[in-house]
Amino acid sequence: MLHLALLALVLPSAIAHTPVISNAKTSLTLLYQNNLNGTDDSNHIGFLLLDPSDKKDAAKACEAIGESLISRSQIKAHSADFVSSLSYVAYAGRAQPAHLYHISDGVVAVDAHENLMFPPIPSRSIKLPVLCTQSSQQGQPWDAVATTSNQVAIASTGNTYVGYRNQKSFRFLGIPYADTPKRFVHSVPYSKTKQTLDATVYAPQCMQYGSGAESCLFLNVQTPYLPKQGSKKDLRPVLFWIHGGGFTGGSAADAGTDGGNLASREDIVVVQIQYRLGTLGFLAIPGTSVTGNYGIADQINALQWVIKNIASFGGNPKQITIGGDSAGAGSVRALLGSPPANGKFQGAIAMSNLGGGVTLGLESTYSTTYSSYLTVAESYALAGQNIFLAAGCKQAALSEQIACLKNVPASTVSGLSSTARYVVQDGTYVNTPQLNVVKRSGSTAHVPAMFGVARDDGSSIGASYPATPVTSEIEGIQKSLGISASYAQSVIDSGLFPLYNTGNITLDSFNVSARVATDSGFRCVDQATMFAAAKSHAFAASYYYEMDRTVGGYDSNLLGGAPVTPGYPNGNPNLPYFRFHSGATAPFIFGNVSPIRDSNDLKAAQLNSGYFAQFVKNGQPNPSERYLTTRKYGDTLHAVQHTGQWNQIKDKNGPIRLLDYPSVSSGFVDVPQCAFLNYPLSYYVDGGR
Ligand SMILES: *[C@@H]1O[C@H](CO)[C@@H](O)[C@H](O)[C@H]1NC(C)=O
Ligand SMILES: *[C@@H]1O[C@H](CO)[C@@H](O)[C@H](O)[C@H]1NC(C)=O
Ligand SMILES: *[C@@H]1O[C@H](CO)[C@@H](O)[C@H](O)[C@H]1NC(C)=O
Repeated sequence: MLHLALLALVLPSAIAHTPVISNAKTSLTLLYQNNLNGTDDSNHIGFLLLDPSDKKDAAKACEAIGESLISRSQIKAHSADFVSSLSYVAYAGRAQPAHLYHISDGVVAVDAHENLMFPPIPSRSIKLPVLCTQSSQQGQPWDAVATTSNQVAIASTGNTYVGYRNQKSFRFLGIPYADTPKRFVHSVPYSKTKQTLDATVYAPQCMQYGSGAESCLFLNVQTPYLPKQGSKKDLRPVLFWIHGGGFTGGSAADAGTDGGNLASREDIVVVQIQYRLGTLGFLAIPGTSVTGNYGIADQINALQWVIKNIASFGGNPKQITIGGDSAGAGSVRALLGSPPANGKFQGAIAMSNLGGGVTLGLESTYSTTYSSYLTVAESYALAGQNIFLAAGCKQAALSEQIACLKNVPASTVSGLSSTARYVVQDGTYVNTPQLNVVKRSGSTAHVPAMFGVARDDGSSIGASYPATPVTSEIEGIQKSLGISASYAQSVIDSGLFPLYNTGNITLDSFNVSARVATDSGFRCVDQATMFAAAKSHAFAASYYYEMDRTVGGYDSNLLGGAPVTPGYPNGNPNLPYFRFHSGATAPFIFGNVSPIRDSNDLKAAQLNSGYFAQFVKNGQPNPSERYLTTRKYGDTLHAVQHTGQWNQIKDKNGPIRLLDYPSVSSGFVDVPQCAFLNYPLSYYVDGGR
């Protein structure tokens, strides 16, 4: 223990003093042929591509970054990886000037027929790009650590950032995008300059449930490419990721949403951000300067940092797609309608946004406030005085109560039984009761948007597994959904949610309830949103999906994943299992699939992360066949050819996409069920609210 503690003390200063490689003299491209199979990482090597130089300077260029020229034998030992990587460089138009590269024993080329060749060195003096070894081989976010030999320093808008590289990408962690925020005050951009910032370790999570830090406004970047200092050449599209966690939890330091796999497989830049949570992020008090939406404003501040700095990290500031899952999707939805955010991003992905829930005679449910924004007064009525009382701030005057709460330790505030977790209509960041998708208007960002749900989101949020076995369907539905017997009976009588009989009535009635909860809390609002947006052209394009395969996810009812059967030690996805909330984000967006239960898990991760990455690249999810062929993404190519084009929503028949391997084109799902639940497909078109 003592040793570990000492190490922790010594490391940061060691990092600060070690000379690190930089992009001062050349761009740095990390190429890695990534099939997303972590177990297979040890069979692959990556390499670094540097700007053209003379033969005599090539070796020095590699040495300057702590590597050496790659050799013919190293290339031959991994020829398939080199052929596809270099073919892709040519495809992307970056194999200038002659599709030849310096290596230790001559030059290498990949010709138009994808033959690896070692032609004689051209006699005329010609500058060629340089291929160096890439010795940092840790493949996973959790084992990727900065060492003296893998660090990299880059300069951006007045500061220097020291990050590092692993097998998959360059990584910059824990970058401050804002000054330490004052409590209940909107954050301001990071103001220090001439700093050398250690970006090799994650920042602390934002204060949540009593732990974390109030100084938490940091972001992470994973990138396959660092342009030469000052250059804006070949910038890659950016995925700007907002984590979920109910606006009360979560962090950007999450292996499931690490961008290393996506950066290398799809050649895009990935950013994850943190924002203030719970009462510290969302307290709103009418008639005071505590106007709320601090967490949302933090996100916009982070976007501003990305716009200003991301080119230095290889990202294109004019090609930013915001994305998020759960409360991250709720954030995306809020940003889509937020005037200060408008114009700061070019695409949006909202996965399993919550909403609706005004159903079965219930006035509102947990999900409602994600899409129907409370006024400041409504939010305060739910979580205002209760917070003051719980914090012991019982002064007579409101101003004194606020002053008191500002002095309560952040850990105490975030651990109280009452929490403000609501996006509110503050008139600045959010100034409509709902995202306006009814007509094309200045208030809604006119960008391509992708919304969707996990098939059984409601099995994680909305339906609770009964604590004790039930003896009838009606009892099960009543208990799972917390509704009256007469409403439970109306669900049964509707005939719209038939019992799927496994002989286990507790499970089967829960399954019915999970479908009701999925529809009422997720599916109906999201489908209605995108149907209306498609009709009104509120978004530049509207795409919709349902995740029919998930791995892991939010198992709030402790139901477990797919059942383990012989030959399937990690679960057999061919047998019934619930597709939990957030269970598709890691594999399908980020290509982080773990565990891999069967070969289709891996293929689905390759295919679907490819669809989403393509959406990030140009606002539509269909990768071209030429791209897939060049990159040797054969299983993805087959699936794309099998299902055909994924088109934007046209009318009440969709289309939408059921994501799996291969994916399936479909119409909207549970349309009559949504009508029954008072959230019809035409909800917004017909006036909604
Ligand atoms: C019903 O299914 C649940 C969830 O899988 C399980 O925990 C329970 O043991 C099952 N009950 C019976 C009687 O098989
Ligand atoms: C739940 O019911 C659906 C049919 O509505 C069925 O396809 C699925 O397999 C069931 N899930 C479980 C875990 O039994
Ligand atoms: C992943 O790679 C390992 C090692 O090469 C291989 O044995 C395994 O079959 C691969 N898994 C899948 C699902 O392709």
